[in-house]
Amino acid sequence: MRHLITSGLPYINGIKHLGNLVGSMLPADVYARFLRQMGHEVLYVCGTDEHGAPAELAAEQAGEPVELYCDHVHQEQARIYESFDISFDIFGRTSSSATHERTRAIYALLAKNGFIERKSLKQYYSVIDGRFLADRYIIGTCPKCGYDRARGDQCEGCSSLLDAVELIEPRSAISGSKELELRETSHLFLSLDTLQARVETWVREQQHWPNLSKQIASKWLNEGLQKRCITRNLKWGVKVPEEGFEDAVFYVWFDAPIGYIGITEDWASSKSEGRSWKEFWLDKANVRYTQFMGKDNLPFHTVMFPAMLLGADDGWKLPDNIKGFHWLDYYGGKFSTSNKRGVFTDVALELYPADYWRYALMTMIPEGGDSTFTWKLFASTINKDLAQVLGNFVNRILKFTESKFGGLVPTVGIEGELELRLKANCERLVKEYINELTALEFRNALRSLRALWVLGNQYVDESAPWKEIKTDPSRAAVTVRSALNLIGLFGAASYAVMPKTGEQLLASVGLQHGARTPLHAYLSLDKVKPATPIANPGILFHQIEDETVVELEKRFGR
Ligand code: 2FM
Ligand code: ZN
Repeated sequence: MRHLITSGLPYINGIKHLGNLVGSMLPADVYARFLRQMGHEVLYVCGTDEHGAPAELAAEQAGEPVELYCDHVHQEQARIYESFDISFDIFGRTSSSATHERTRAIYALLAKNGFIERKSLKQYYSVIDGRFLADRYIIGTCPKCGYDRARGDQCEGCSSLLDAVELIEPRSAISGSKELELRETSHLFLSLDTLQARVETWVREQQHWPNLSKQIASKWLNEGLQKRCITRNLKWGVKVPEEGFEDAVFYVWFDAPIGYIGITEDWASSKSEGRSWKEFWLDKANVRYTQFMGKDNLPFHTVMFPAMLLGADDGWKLPDNIKGFHWLDYYGGKFSTSNKRGVFTDVALELYPADYWRYALMTMIPEGGDSTFTWKLFASTINKDLAQVLGNFVNRILKFTESKFGGLVPTVGIEGELELRLKANCERLVKEYINELTALEFRNALRSLRALWVLGNQYVDESAPWKEIKTDPSRAAVTVRSALNLIGLFGAASYAVMPKTGEQLLASVGLQHGARTPLHAYLSLDKVKPATPIANPGILFHQIEDETVVELEKRFGR
């Protein structure tokens, strides 16, 4: 079985915040690393989603041509995710020719199969801005409640869904201009209504999906699928292969998920040494495909993208599992890119190493509902779990090995009752951890990981090798050797969540890094070879003091 993993393609219009990371790429990476470590073949595909009006407008604001703007932000995002140790097999771009061509090819199949309709639409054209305005780029007075800054797609005053043409005194949200003309243009529509039955049959087979994904798919399907406009009057995007559409491009949500396929094609042609993208997208039976994303993306992934692939009817691989996340809030409010509220991925890495963030964010992952980031919670997670439990255990054992055993793994002594119990407990927790990661239950998995580390401290507290060394040196040797093996096990188990720390722990006891050695292999607590010199990396995690929390709150707001 080959595993295909994708995480929602981050939009190109700027640097993402921590909420974006924890709601898609980070858990996808933990899963990808875990599967690879367990010996599976994995292809993890992601990239920037580069089309649409927000990209054009962000480029305009940055004063750059849109292609150049996308080049820059793509590079910057790629650099940041690399620094977070996100192990993409490729971090591509939807602007690549592969995605453009694949989008047109899938469109052509949908058209051939009768799922595309042409209809004309009246839309606002802003003379001053020189562009058609999507509904959300029009503001005016709400016809329902009178709120005077209602957006053309939805009124923030009364939450009603609107049509831009209903707004009273409409104006451009970009320039404020009232010089708007309603112009009639031709558009292409995807006949989701006629695809409904196929999608429904498929969704009904997906009982194993997490509840959130099932709920959102059912909600959309129960409301009845509507034809959806898949063209836009913009310059930047995938050109539409139809006469009369020379000035149009595809709607960004049409080409973005096709980007998963296009980027896989880019992987095959640039990085794979002869592999074909078809091994992942056209070999249904031998691929297991898992998607990760924020909950706002779920309707498109549970319904619209499957509808496109089912309608194209060409043997496409559909996702086996779709994992959606709720929101990570910042002090109970939204992280906001436009208001610069919260912590952004670039700044986060200037403050603390990637593993601090990876671990803390995974413990806060908004899995069962929304969760909240606060600096206090971040600091207490780092202090309590990493510094006081994992770090403290590792540091005191390595130090003790240096001071009492000349820095070599002890050779003498026979295991006793305590070690048997320790192994049984490790086995139970590692089994749980593996099951939880396999089931994509990240909160539970993180709890099991921490519980595993706690076993280490309990074991040495109970054995007390600092006493044993005086009364029964060979018992002390057994304890230290077992504890050093625990460091190896902890390194292997932590690797998916904290890759650098995992490798560091393994290296400290003379073991290779965790990739491709299944976790079970460490459970016998005998992988660390007697007489091996240990390598003490020093303090692994630094405590975050209360004063620092106060400073961070001051700097980032709360
Ligand atoms: O929400 C977002 O940031 C979108 N750019 C996600 C797209 S996912 C996929 F379909 F490309
Ligand atoms: Zn209103």
